[in-house]
Amino acid sequence: MVKPVIYITRKLPDNLIKPFQETYDIRMWDEASTPVPTETLREEVKHADALFCLITEKIDREFLREHSHLKVIANMAVGYDNIDVEAAKEYGVTITNTPDVLTETTADLTFTLLLSTARRIVEAANTIYQNNWGDWAPFSLAGSDVHGKTLGIVGMGRIGAAVARRAKGFNMNVIYHNRSRKKEVEEELDLSYVTQEELLETADFVVSLVPLTDETKEMFNRTAFAKMKTSAIFINASRGGVVDETALYNALKDGEITAAGLDVFQEEPISSVHPFASLSNAVLLPHIGSATVQTREAMAKLCLENIEAVTTGKKAKTPIT
Ligand code: NAP
Ligand code: GLV
Repeated sequence: MVKPVIYITRKLPDNLIKPFQETYDIRMWDEASTPVPTETLREEVKHADALFCLITEKIDREFLREHSHLKVIANMAVGYDNIDVEAAKEYGVTITNTPDVLTETTADLTFTLLLSTARRIVEAANTIYQNNWGDWAPFSLAGSDVHGKTLGIVGMGRIGAAVARRAKGFNMNVIYHNRSRKKEVEEELDLSYVTQEELLETADFVVSLVPLTDETKEMFNRTAFAKMKTSAIFINASRGGVVDETALYNALKDGEITAAGLDVFQEEPISSVHPFASLSNAVLLPHIGSATVQTREAMAKLCLENIEAVTTGKKAKTPIT
């Protein structure tokens, strides 16, 4: 019997694909760290029943029209702004993502960014690596307290709530803004719902955990940064596209806000020539929110389980469409 074909856009470890190899013909781009070239992807997908992709692959209307024979596209991420979901619905291709399995890990990283930005960890460590540790001085490398401060979370979804839980352990006051009110989370964690404006004006830490959509695109712009306190610290662990990066750069350079911790950027990857890299008050990470071995394994497994469900006529475990 001919096995259904799964095309995977990045090399995965054998132990993850092994359980599926008896049933599926699994083909893969053979590189772990470079994306599959577009032409190769289009050619490979012609012969596939299912596609396992990453956020580096742009699944647009044209791609979906050309490959409407695909039964399912499993995105190895919870965010799916790389996929034209409306077009997928029209062409009858099921799209799945990886919610829940990465929530706690991404919340850990978001809190890591918050702590390391507040306490100037990268700047401080660099004084050693750059042979620049002067004598102990009263205000040398003095950052901001975290305990007792107000954390403002924009986007109180799964990861937002997990970050709020961590903040409570640090004795922070947590306020949030979200498209819809989250009464249950408010009660569980003693959170206050505020308007976006109030959040920007009063929070000591403003954390973005909204998905990138037409509504959220560059919502953190010049006006938003101007509303924040000059002592405010901005953290973005969602998508680079929710930030006007020129406005953020200017706000950091001109001292309109104190610092920023960023895991995501408009165009990824960035390097040391990116304007943010010239700022000592920006902590930059290469989009590692969910990057632990355990979580990446769980995400890959969930993608394969979604593919298995759809290709055997069952409902996907975590469908978007
Ligand atoms: P989620 O549970 O869907 O939470 C997103 C929240 O944002 C929802 O509560 C949603 O409100 C809210 N929202 C949507 N549009 C909004 C708007 N215009 N204004 C205010 N709130 C809005 O998703 P999640 O699992 O927490 O993940 C959130 C995002 O994090 C993902 O979309 C992804 O982009 C990013 N992420 C990044 C990494 C990383 O590596 N840095 C890792 C994982 C996820 P409703 O409840 O009303 O829909
Ligand atoms: C990663 O950025 C994700 O959306 O899972």
